[in-house]
Amino acid sequence: MRVLGIETSCDETSAAVVEGDGDGAALRSLVILSQDIHRVFGGVVPEIASRAHLTAIAPVTRRALDDAGVESGDLDAIAVTHAPGLVGALLVGVSFAKGLAASLGIPLVGVHHMEGHLFATELEDAKAAPPLTALLVSGGHTMLLDVPAWGEYRLLGATRDDAAGEAFDKVAKLLGLPYPGGRHVEALARGGDPTTHRFARPMLHGGQKLGDDDFYDLSFSGLKTAVLHAVRDAEGRGVIEGARAGIARGFQDALVDTLVEKTMRAALAHGRTRIVLGGGVACNAALVTAMRERAAKRLGAAAAVYAPGPRLATDNAAMIARAGLFRLLRGERAGPDLNAYASLPIPGLVPQAASVR
Ligand code: KG4
Ligand code: ZN
Repeated sequence: MRVLGIETSCDETSAAVVEGDGDGAALRSLVILSQDIHRVFGGVVPEIASRAHLTAIAPVTRRALDDAGVESGDLDAIAVTHAPGLVGALLVGVSFAKGLAASLGIPLVGVHHMEGHLFATELEDAKAAPPLTALLVSGGHTMLLDVPAWGEYRLLGATRDDAAGEAFDKVAKLLGLPYPGGRHVEALARGGDPTTHRFARPMLHGGQKLGDDDFYDLSFSGLKTAVLHAVRDAEGRGVIEGARAGIARGFQDALVDTLVEKTMRAALAHGRTRIVLGGGVACNAALVTAMRERAAKRLGAAAAVYAPGPRLATDNAAMIARAGLFRLLRGERAGPDLNAYASLPIPGLVPQAASVR
């Protein structure tokens, strides 16, 4: 089955062609057009994003078909992100996909953006498939999932306030770095002394046990405030230039430590040895390295951590085509009433087993 994927949930206009019959599907092409204009504003401006998607969607899709060496008539189906995200931005992709699918007379399926992030790594490595523990860390969402099978998701924990990527972006702003700030904070932290600024690990203490509300949940707004105080303190003492790298390092260490520890708890409680990361923050080498080290120690020799490369970690249509392929093979089809939603639970949520609740 040859699927065209379309993604316009935020500030990337993307189209991709994926081909296959399930696990091990092949990526034929991927085009991602990032809207640089938002840098000027230090964040995504929804109205500008929608308009930019509108001018880019047709040429980006044309280019994805050309790169894959196929014509629109060679497509078997179209998968499009329909939630969650900026509604105006999502609607551009959804309307375009509906029109194209109707004109070609082929099926259409709506894909949940976070299910897309979950499937991204599998396009690069077929072993990144269930059963697994997934940590999805993007600019808008942070989710810890147990995945016994594709389409069956136990939502173990989520952030109670800022998403992990959002925390990186806000800390970047406090440190005078450009938007989006994740990779700039990581670069600055690389040269930072880990001992100058040690921040408390949010929602993490030894007394937590399975069944506690905060056992898996995450929170980053307190950490962000701690960084704000550290920056103000250093500014007040006139030493901010020398302190920036140490603060970035302290922030990243605290965030990474929390994410890794909660992921280990989830894997251990469910007997998983495979951990799959997704979302823009999965580009962070410190996170991936720490996850690999701790998984080897805590989960044993069979432990494996899979993280997507940068193009598939950040927003892209390949992951949407891949998740869409899964849903299409299950017979799912969207009608002409497919709509866009700012927020929507990931499909396929199953209750947590009583023994590990
Ligand atoms: O998944 P994504 O492309 O978009 C959303 O769905 O939100 O994630 C974007 C987020 C941004 O917050 C960005 O700062 C963060 O991913 N990010 C990083 C890194 N690269 C991107 N965060 C930490 N370290 C990085 N190297
Ligand atoms: Zn995303």
